[in-house]
Amino acid sequence: MKQQEFKRYLVTSALPYANGPIHIGHLAGVYIPADIYVRYLRLAGRKVCFVGGSDEHGVPITIRARQQGVAPQDIVDKYHFQIKESFQRLGISFDVYSRTSSGIHHKTASAFFKKLYDSGKLLEKETEQFYDPQTRTFLADRYIVGTCPRCSYSDAYGDQCEKCGSTLSPDELINPRSSISGSIPEKRMTKHWYLPLDEYESWLRKWILEDHKEWKPNVYGQCKSWLDNGLQPRAVSRDLDWGVPVPVEGGQGKVLYVWFDAPIGYISNTIELFPDTWETWWKDKDTKMVHFIGKDNIVFHCIVFPSMLKAHGGYILPENVPANEFLNLEGEKISTSRNWAVWLHEYLDELPGKEDVLRYTLCSTMPETKDNDFTWKDFQARNNNELVAILGNFVNRAVVLTHKYFNGLVPAAGSLTDYDKEVMRSVPGMASALEDHLEHYRFRDALKEAMNLARLGNKYLADTEPWKVAKTGMERVATILNFSLQLCARLTVALDPFLPFTTAKLRNILNMSRPLPWQDLARKTLLPGGHRLNEPVLLFDKIDDTTIETQVAKLKKPGPDKKDVAPALAECSFTDFEKMDIRVATVLQAERVPKTDKLLKLTIDTGLDQRVIVSGIAQYYAPEDMIGRQICILANLAPRTIRGIVSQGMILMAKEPEGFMRVISPLEEISNGAVVG
Ligand code: 2FM
Ligand code: ZN
Repeated sequence: MKQQEFKRYLVTSALPYANGPIHIGHLAGVYIPADIYVRYLRLAGRKVCFVGGSDEHGVPITIRARQQGVAPQDIVDKYHFQIKESFQRLGISFDVYSRTSSGIHHKTASAFFKKLYDSGKLLEKETEQFYDPQTRTFLADRYIVGTCPRCSYSDAYGDQCEKCGSTLSPDELINPRSSISGSIPEKRMTKHWYLPLDEYESWLRKWILEDHKEWKPNVYGQCKSWLDNGLQPRAVSRDLDWGVPVPVEGGQGKVLYVWFDAPIGYISNTIELFPDTWETWWKDKDTKMVHFIGKDNIVFHCIVFPSMLKAHGGYILPENVPANEFLNLEGEKISTSRNWAVWLHEYLDELPGKEDVLRYTLCSTMPETKDNDFTWKDFQARNNNELVAILGNFVNRAVVLTHKYFNGLVPAAGSLTDYDKEVMRSVPGMASALEDHLEHYRFRDALKEAMNLARLGNKYLADTEPWKVAKTGMERVATILNFSLQLCARLTVALDPFLPFTTAKLRNILNMSRPLPWQDLARKTLLPGGHRLNEPVLLFDKIDDTTIETQVAKLKKPGPDKKDVAPALAECSFTDFEKMDIRVATVLQAERVPKTDKLLKLTIDTGLDQRVIVSGIAQYYAPEDMIGRQICILANLAPRTIRGIVSQGMILMAKEPEGFMRVISPLEEISNGAVVG
């Protein structure tokens, strides 16, 4: 089948937030399909740039940093490198995997904004926003908590209630408070810049609804519904201190909205890879750009980012956005907070050598048209009944028999029977169906079609029974094995986009020095007569029930970020508890204890008295953070002398699993000396 020719292919995959590890939902939704597509294109000799990277801005990252008492940069450093490494171990073949905290990205995103601003493409508006008077910051919706008006949950966020799932605006919350300081937020005026999406509506209608009717129904449908509801201007800046600073007058203390800067990350990462030629990738009409994303990103990639590119001018637009739906796990939504997930880095450590089994299962269950479910039982069945029983079995039989009857040399084919001819005639049709599926982002069908070649091989061996024919004459056996081995060689091509580790192994068994190009799928003879094979090794091993049961049991245990939670202590009696005199107190003075890194000397008002406590919190709090702060103390702890200072009591602290210590402070002001218990 003749495909429309483009000179080059720019393939992007959603930049994952660097605030947690990658799980199977990300993989099945975005990275597996993208990787299959680019591997296919490369094999077919097309020029490809596969762009990935970490999305390192956004409020969830700042919240996490604050919770852990570290800087946002520490959070993104940790996850960026972990994510990058786990992708690489799974064979996700990015040409570049960079990050949005990079200097190049800041420069690129900043210049992009400036160009829109300078050319009058942005609106400037002052609106009222919630402001935390204590920390003197405007509050992102996520930083405002209060009671949900729908279900009365007391800790709903300003944008969403996690209990009942309602989407909220901060104005709807009952008794809103700042989650940073606990204080009651005020409304204050603040200025922001908006992209007037309404002005792009009729252009978008034509570009998507008329010119891209071929987009997947889930993508097309979502775009249509957005457009039918009418587009509104969208703020592209935020009052935050983590992100790309707004580079224009009045932008102090403001950053670009994460969804403005993140897609520009695709451009920045291309610049990082090709500093001199990146523009041909982004500006030449002969480039085909394809965005791989999950369904929650559709509006940003089909409506917002294209409008940004159009407003800027000079850029190409995506040819397609083959977004996937969501993958569930054992019948339930994947949830990172509940640890209902299979984490890639853990999978790679716990099931070494099974990278392709995961790739295979996730491709087979990819949520291409609707949400789909991953189960460990299905994973086991796909390995044992398909990879082992069909693919592994076929290859093994063909190679073992060749060693047995022809000393490991590919036998030359003799004359063909009608049955041989019929089987061979089916191959080109299967190859072109496979190609058509890949060109049109139908990866599940494509994998099925590639596996059909192995199924065909198994059936051919079962029908022709070379082990029986061998008893009467070798000429026919030679023909059967020659055809079977050509099929094995063809599998190294057909399966390469899906199972790159396996095809490398198979090439080694077949003693093929290099990968064959995609076009060779159509060739009859891929291995010449007399070609020597290597010794057979099994491509796949069976997976037993214990392995699967271990993984299922693990789902119920605390997750990667919770597994260091200290174990529960032995029960204590109420009398034991009553012995502890815990009080609210206020810090009056705080200073570092000279010549130590860890100690602060705090003078506190306990309501009972004024006293000194020496506390090991200097790594986590500066003296000025503590002065004026209310804390809880164990007031009747026997005094101890620390560095020559008598410390009378202990401050109550919580230790994060990562080891950071946080002081426990009351949310509202409480009288000093109030008893806690
Ligand atoms: O949904 C997400 O995980 C986002 N971090 C995706 C960003 S895609 C792109 F725009 F960078
Ligand atoms: Zn609710």
